[in-house]
Amino acid sequence: MPDSITFFGGGNMASAIMGGLARASAPGSIRVQVVDPLAAVGTRWIRDFQAQWHPGVSAAACTSACWVLAVKPQDMATLCAQLHDAAPDQSALVLSVAAGIRLATLARWLGPQHRIVRSMPNTPALIGMGISALYAGPRHEAANSHPNAEDPQARAGAAGLVTGDRRQAQALLQGVGETLWVNHEAQLDAVTAVSGSGPAYVFRFIEALQDAATALGLDPEQARQLVLATLHGATALARTSALPPRVLREQVTSKGGTTAAALAVMDQGDFPGLIRRALEAAASRSVELSQRADTAPGAGPTR
Ligand SMILES: NC(=O)c1ccc[n+]([C@@H]2O[C@H](COP(=O)([O-])OP(=O)(O)OC[C@H]3O[C@@H](n4cnc5c(N)ncnc54)[C@H](OP(=O)(O)O)[C@@H]3O)[C@@H](O)[C@H]2O)c1
Repeated sequence: MPDSITFFGGGNMASAIMGGLARASAPGSIRVQVVDPLAAVGTRWIRDFQAQWHPGVSAAACTSACWVLAVKPQDMATLCAQLHDAAPDQSALVLSVAAGIRLATLARWLGPQHRIVRSMPNTPALIGMGISALYAGPRHEAANSHPNAEDPQARAGAAGLVTGDRRQAQALLQGVGETLWVNHEAQLDAVTAVSGSGPAYVFRFIEALQDAATALGLDPEQARQLVLATLHGATALARTSALPPRVLREQVTSKGGTTAAALAVMDQGDFPGLIRRALEAAASRSVELSQRADTAPGAGPTR
């Protein structure tokens, strides 16, 4: 774990990550700073995490070994410009949680001296049950922090990772759920489509199931209880069983029975094709948003 961290943006995701860190580390073992314009955010971080609050980016706020960039994607270029101006010579391990801002874009905006890790958490992180994908290039670490032509970070314009950076970046996110590394940055677009946007698909499915259940004569509270317990139980079964979901599905589908009748209707509507097209749309949108950020003016030396 880094011994000093500054969170830039102290909103939902930053608070969730810091909450996980606070649960996993000894009190006072990490020097925590937060930069956020909202005084209410500062008050909460001082009270909950004994953090030092800064209402704006300053050189003092940038002295930490690790920076967590947790503002909205549309605020990221401005934040990076402020960081570049406030601490032009500082080099940090930078963890970005912003969707759709590529490593090369971050390096261009921040300057080439930082070691950058991108991550894509999801909303269940807010209750410690998220899954976060991380990307820092293929799985090898530069022996030192000098730019290295073989290192994907160097190709992106960032400094190479040093030993321990991957472990530290991962440790930051482990308090809010599971983590996994991807080896290709383009895979983060797929991750965004699957787990980043995924909770919304599940909520949409819950809504549809609850509406259909009440249409069949159940009252809304009964519908809610049945639907949530069914999803929770089926998900837990899929996770713990050695059998693939297809076999689990077949085991509850008797020929000519009720489940078969329902699944036949789903198949008529090409349910798998619908899901595939939905995920393709999400992934394409993720690519478009990244490309838009790629071409936005930034703060770094190439401005
Ligand atoms: N929430 C999720 O489930 C989730 C999932 C995956 C990824 N993420 C990523 O996490 C990031 C943060 O999302 P969030 O939901 O936590 O957003 P949020 O709750 O709106 O928090 C962002 C905070 O950053 C502040 N801020 C804006 N510009 C700043 C600056 N230049 N310096 C310091 N602070 C600044 C904002 O203040 P103002 O409100 O005054 O602008 C706000 O308090 C986003 O990039 C998002 O893509 C979130």
